[in-house]
Amino acid sequence: MTASLALALLLLLAPAALAAQAAEASLGVIPRPRALMTRPGAFTLGPRTVVWTDAASAAKGRQLARALEPATGYALAVRTGGAPPATDVIELRRDPALAASLGPEGYRLSVRPGRVVARAAGEAGLFYAAQTMRQLLPPAVFRDAPVPGVAWTMPAVEIEDAPRFAWRGAHLDVARHFMPKAFVKRYIDLLALHKLNVFHWHLTDDQGWRLAIRKYPRLTEVGAWRAATLVGKPHTDTTNNTYDGTRHGGFYTQDDAREIVAYAAARHVAVVPEIEMPGHARAAIAAYPELGVTGEAIPVWTNWGVTPHILNADERTVAFMQDVLTEVLAIFPSRFVHVGGDEAAKDLWKTSPRVQARIRELGLKDEHELQSWFIRRMDAFLTQRGRRLVGWDEILEGGLAPGATVMSWRGTQGGIAAARAGHDVVMAPGRWTYFDQYQSTDQTREPPAFGGFLPVDTVYAFEPVPRELDAAQARRVLGAQWQLWTEYVPTTRHAEYMVFPRAAALAEVVWTPAARKDLAGFRARLARHLARLDALDVGYRRDTMP
Ligand code: ACM
Repeated sequence: MTASLALALLLLLAPAALAAQAAEASLGVIPRPRALMTRPGAFTLGPRTVVWTDAASAAKGRQLARALEPATGYALAVRTGGAPPATDVIELRRDPALAASLGPEGYRLSVRPGRVVARAAGEAGLFYAAQTMRQLLPPAVFRDAPVPGVAWTMPAVEIEDAPRFAWRGAHLDVARHFMPKAFVKRYIDLLALHKLNVFHWHLTDDQGWRLAIRKYPRLTEVGAWRAATLVGKPHTDTTNNTYDGTRHGGFYTQDDAREIVAYAAARHVAVVPEIEMPGHARAAIAAYPELGVTGEAIPVWTNWGVTPHILNADERTVAFMQDVLTEVLAIFPSRFVHVGGDEAAKDLWKTSPRVQARIRELGLKDEHELQSWFIRRMDAFLTQRGRRLVGWDEILEGGLAPGATVMSWRGTQGGIAAARAGHDVVMAPGRWTYFDQYQSTDQTREPPAFGGFLPVDTVYAFEPVPRELDAAQARRVLGAQWQLWTEYVPTTRHAEYMVFPRAAALAEVVWTPAARKDLAGFRARLARHLARLDALDVGYRRDTMP
């Protein structure tokens, strides 16, 4: 092709490409689908629209009809089997052949005048097609009561879509500030709307133990409550700290937790519980002092940071924590169970003659190897029960347990090392995924936060697969997730402010093919998406510029 011909073609095609881009931006589907083509016309949802499903998809059909009912006021008929109506129909169909090209979570969605057809190999794909349909409708569809005067149309479009990563996660710390069950459900709803599928529930820490354990009731009787909360930042000299003097706490019963697991499962979200050990376990030690190294009675912590207190790594503590995990496994069907492993201060282990004797007895080199010994015991316990252990990247330090998956938070290096050693990895590096950081360089404009600066654009720029990995190692990267630590996030409204709209950027990082990511396009789509979050009354940060 001559240069002038190429230029002529470019001039011919560019306006069409720009128009397609503008059309896609106006739809504002987030995360951006793998492929999307707009067409002329629209589908109009009306009171007589039928949701038709094949035999396998009835539950997803009912779920879609229920989701559309509050705002439209239409109690749509759901019909399963037989021939679908010729028109005014939304069809949900299973197509096992799509598994090869789109995987278990992918879907095809065709919106034409009179007929919408969603096809997927599995239920999850139909659920994600339904999330896309909700986004194609006017943002008012996210309201909770009939909105008069809205034309409930979806622009005609052909979409083929599937996630880039299997682990598309969101973390929530309910230990530093307790978050009520209703909010946890709302959080899960919002994850599902963004096509995320893992809820990492940080249930225990130094400042609170939030899950009732039948065998050890003091974990919540004592461990779920602290006498006060630090005001502002911790001082190196703790006598300079100020506290609010207000008792804080709360916990989830096992029935509460089961309810949340079921709620999440209906939205294709797996709940990964985190029970922190051997560090960040001070609330447990406050409840049962014999779990600690010194046996001294200590209160549930009222400070932030890294406490010197650590679990005593003896057989009794191993048995205690395995008892806890036994109850956890009965509540949480998730394949993955998180045991923490981060920021375990080793000073008390270093100075304890008993712990030092134990290290020698076990033939270990040092305290890092003792931590690894402890984590290996949990790994074996979980593996025997068909589960998989996840831990923060410190679990690499004394040698990685054979079945461990590493959550890389201190950067991507831990993840790189784990992938090279043949372990699975979830990327959670602070620089790109810690949503407890400021959203502006001008901290006076923002509510107090942990520190740092993480605007939406930086989240969007995150690439979960490090360049250092070869193709086989890269497949070890299961995906990525954001973290919301709540030291400085006392309320659910504040949690929404920290998470949104950065969540929308992270959703594209883990869902959209890397080649389809485009910051300018994302910003245009986000403008539309924020109208949905408005309808849902999400307390997001309004100014998306830093
Ligand atoms: C962590 O932020 N300590 C995992």
